Amino acid sequence: MGLHEDIKMNETGIWTDAEPLLCCAIVPEAPNTVTFSFVSPSGAQFRYEPGQFVTLELPVPGGTVWKTYTISSSPSRPLTLSVTVKAQAGSIGTRWMLDHLQPGMKIKATGPAGIFTLPRNERKKYLFISAGSGITPSLSMTTYLYDRGTDIDVAFVHCAQRPQDIICRQRLEQMASRVPTIRLSFIVEEDDPYRVWTGLRGRLNQLMIGLIAGDYLEREIYCCGPEPFMDAVREMLIALGCDMDRYHQESFAAPVKKEEQLPEHDDLVPDEEALASVAFTRSEVTAECKETDTVLAVARGAGIVIPSGCTFGVCGTCKIRKTAGTVHMVHNGGISEDDIEAGYILACCSKPIGTVELDV
Ligand code: FES
Repeated sequence: MGLHEDIKMNETGIWTDAEPLLCCAIVPEAPNTVTFSFVSPSGAQFRYEPGQFVTLELPVPGGTVWKTYTISSSPSRPLTLSVTVKAQAGSIGTRWMLDHLQPGMKIKATGPAGIFTLPRNERKKYLFISAGSGITPSLSMTTYLYDRGTDIDVAFVHCAQRPQDIICRQRLEQMASRVPTIRLSFIVEEDDPYRVWTGLRGRLNQLMIGLIAGDYLEREIYCCGPEPFMDAVREMLIALGCDMDRYHQESFAAPVKKEEQLPEHDDLVPDEEALASVAFTRSEVTAECKETDTVLAVARGAGIVIPSGCTFGVCGTCKIRKTAGTVHMVHNGGISEDDIEAGYILACCSKPIGTVELDV
């Protein structure tokens, strides 16, 4: 089926997740790491913030899984959208992508979403720090700043196991070779056998940060990587006296919040003793549950599939419309105020109070 045969472009010409993504290119980047690029079948363009993510619906054997990936392309190049994914040991969804996803195939997606983004219209000095596949948001942000072309000042620090594991190294070097104020620093733990490495070795430490970006106190800092890496970076920056209001960290693990940091959405508190009922009106199913059960768990228990990704209120994949009743929702930025006003909820982090009806 051709690119434009079956779907008409919507009026705005901007892609929405009502239409699937059509895979158009696959580029190997590093061992077990591949960039998949997509176009919209209708020819619509992609609009998102650098640093945002999409959730892909992957038809793996044994059932669909939803996986959230940061977009590695830049919104300044709106004709395609790319994700760069690394299959870790034991991964199911990403492994399926590497083994089976081919140009010409269509994949359903949700998003874009996420709040780990550059400040709008502000010209700042940036320090991007990443490890492993956590490079993707800084890749998107750096490409965006490069394409914007004015007042770029990026110190880009990336940590990898070995030089061959550095994702999209050539793309970064190409940008840095044309703009002297994009400065790359790669830090590896081991050399590649029989290849000369003249960059930094070891683990990122305070001394390295000072050498790489001596003006780190003036920079807006973005960090993405495994949780222990981000924890270590955070500790280092605090010890270096950085203003942590200018520190941004991406995470696909549930944020750990202290009681006092939890948002006060309303004064409804689910009662463990109280019973509730959730009516999935389109499916013509009603399930009895406790007020402390999430809507997602109730749906699963009733045999109803609501797509979900992160399961802690970040990715927005589980957004559904509530037609009646009240829920207690504590999300982590995965739904906009406008959507909440319009009656939408995130099933993974909403608990029914009394009787609730959902358009599912
Ligand atoms: S599954 Fe990600 S917000 Fe609910």
